[in-house]
Amino acid sequence: MLKNIGEYRTYFDILKAEKKKIGFVPTMGALHEGHLSLVYSSKANDDITISSIFVNPTQFNDPSDYRGYPRDLDRDIEILKSAGCDALFAPSESEMYPEKGSVAELYWTGNIREVNLAPLDSVMEGKYRPGHFDGVTTIVQKLFYAIKPDTAYFGDKDYQQLAIIRRMTDELDLSIDIVGCPIIRESDGLALSSRNALLSKDQRAVSCIIYNTLKSAQAQVHTKDVQELSAWIAEEINAEPLCEVQYVEISDPDSLAPVLKWEPNKKTICCVAVFMDSVRLIDNVSLFP
Ligand code: PAJ
Repeated sequence: MLKNIGEYRTYFDILKAEKKKIGFVPTMGALHEGHLSLVYSSKANDDITISSIFVNPTQFNDPSDYRGYPRDLDRDIEILKSAGCDALFAPSESEMYPEKGSVAELYWTGNIREVNLAPLDSVMEGKYRPGHFDGVTTIVQKLFYAIKPDTAYFGDKDYQQLAIIRRMTDELDLSIDIVGCPIIRESDGLALSSRNALLSKDQRAVSCIIYNTLKSAQAQVHTKDVQELSAWIAEEINAEPLCEVQYVEISDPDSLAPVLKWEPNKKTICCVAVFMDSVRLIDNVSLFP
């Protein structure tokens, strides 16, 4: 396990002298098969797979969500070892966010650039979690500068995050290949998420309604218009008393602009956020008109 950038640089220099291709899987820990699927993709494509675990305070707009985020570094280290991950970067908070005015902070301010994400960051998660994507782009830039990977892996589960990372990487000309990986689900369809551990037994039992509804929406693109379908999805999920829909958006898969009308053969992406008490779950599926 590498705890700071200095330690990592020594390792990086050896890898580069050996011309190794480095794949990178950034995470916030509480690892599950969804995270591991990214590790496996990297292992299939790269010489060396490096993961990071850092619960990034600046991307949590709700302090209690940050405090309650599941953390178990020892368990995560064992999981990464058995998955064959080559190295783990697990920095401290002061490494990534040094004290204001310190020399270490100057290193970051000299390297981290602001990115214009509009309008990708003003819809969905960006609309309901103000500042979230500023926190994500800041930490992912810092991690990219620290690790200097050739390829980085992100899940389709956080579809908007993936779109934003792609935009950021292009805009900053970072020369890192961004690879999107499919959503891994429980056997009843619930998308794996570190937050699932916070669900009660009753909540967990009914949470599959989210994916079941999205799946049956896929079959209804020819019988309902866009507005009817998104209203139907919200009603269907809200009919479960333990669920409260925050948004249902049917959007262009690249620009994330809302789609108003089906266009034949033009794929759209349907993203939802659902509260189960204080636990907030997100999911998405593609819709093919
Ligand atoms: P985290 O929520 O830990 O997720 C790390 C990566 O795992 C993300 O790319 C996410 O999309 C992917 N992932 C999570 N659940 C998945 C699933 N069920 N199937 C496939 N992939 C899944 O996303 C973050 O951390 C942070 O925002 C981070 C990028 C690390 C920046 O702090």
